[in-house]
Amino acid sequence: MCAFKQPLTLRKTLLGLAVAGTLGATQAQAGDVEVLHWWTSGGEARAANVLKELVEEEGHHWEDFAVAGGGGETAMTVLKSRAMSGNPPSAAQIKGPEIQEWGDLGLLGSLDDVAESEGWDEKLPGVVANVMKHDGQYVAVPVNVHRVNWLWANPEVLEEAGVALPTTLDEMFAAGEAIREAGYVPLAHGGQAWQDATVFETVLLATAGNDFYRRTMVDLDPEALGSEQMIEALENFKRMRELMDDGMSGRDWNIATSMVISGKAAMQLMGDWAKGEFTAAGLEPGKDYLCAPAPGTEHSFTFNIDSLAMFRVSEEADQEAQHTLARLVLEPEFQKTFNLAKGSIPARPDLDMSEFDQCAQKSLEDFQRTADEGGLVPSMAHGMAVRSDVQGAIFDVVTNFFNSPDMSAEQAAQRMVSAAQAVM
Ligand code: BGC
Repeated sequence: MCAFKQPLTLRKTLLGLAVAGTLGATQAQAGDVEVLHWWTSGGEARAANVLKELVEEEGHHWEDFAVAGGGGETAMTVLKSRAMSGNPPSAAQIKGPEIQEWGDLGLLGSLDDVAESEGWDEKLPGVVANVMKHDGQYVAVPVNVHRVNWLWANPEVLEEAGVALPTTLDEMFAAGEAIREAGYVPLAHGGQAWQDATVFETVLLATAGNDFYRRTMVDLDPEALGSEQMIEALENFKRMRELMDDGMSGRDWNIATSMVISGKAAMQLMGDWAKGEFTAAGLEPGKDYLCAPAPGTEHSFTFNIDSLAMFRVSEEADQEAQHTLARLVLEPEFQKTFNLAKGSIPARPDLDMSEFDQCAQKSLEDFQRTADEGGLVPSMAHGMAVRSDVQGAIFDVVTNFFNSPDMSAEQAAQRMVSAAQAVM
């Protein structure tokens, strides 16, 4: 599952000699860059490979440290144990407020030299740049912008069931019944805490809107967390279970996507990394599959920015490799090729989007529109809204409630209040 670091000295020397021979003066030293990530599904691996190839074209060695597990919880656990034993990788997929947690430990190295020579401050939107900085210095580089509140659907299954793509929660529940009667699984889902949380935050937005989402998932306001609106959102969330199948327990998200692809299921609520799976299967949006904002969330955009944070490294050649990686990530070639495969949109708003499909075009348009109108909100389920311990506490309540036949929505709301207070 995860490739732990192997002794690299010999390979490094050989690679160094080979590169010195071929590149001469243009490349002083070949370094190693070990990259921890959780991009292991078909679409994700295609995307990660883009970066590996670009780094290797520059003469450096990419050491893949892939830890399977959607949402990255396992990857973060492995990262913590590597860091505790004094041997972190040089780069790791770390996002949102967690970048600050690693920065506070003093383990991250500065990318300011790269940022300055490449003009990152001018290229990145302020909201994105701020997340990448610790104590005013760049310590991470953004890879993309994912939208979490998407609905994916198989048009043939919808047609068989005689339903249109739902745009509200009520339409979704009604469509679900018709789809079930037609013999299909209405909503493909994998019963894992982060997937439950992904559906929960989307239903919360649909039920109670952007301001309430912010009060609960970002500000952790106890009054809102325990309110009637939260209870209603939890009830709607639990109703989604009726649209799912019995085999969902422990299922990976990409397996759920493959149920929509194969026509076993009609729909999936998932971020646009799911599009990477449709793309890898050679399918076209609007024809072979449909994408739309999750029902009831047309005016919201739950953002999830993947980023690579850089750990301090001692060897000069490795630092060079690390800085090369950081530079490449924000260059147009990587931003385009990676994001076409990953399902996301570029982290830089100034790039040509003509080769991107209609879902990506809509994502960009909605990102800009919701930023102006106030519906651009950070995803709690994907580590953009709160610290990791708070996120873990919310996950526990959400997934226990979803899976427990006895817990009422009122009890779950109260647990949410206690969970937020305990970690504050
Ligand atoms: C990450 C995506 C990844 C998804 C599924 C999200 O948290 O941001 O890059 O594709 O999890 O693993």
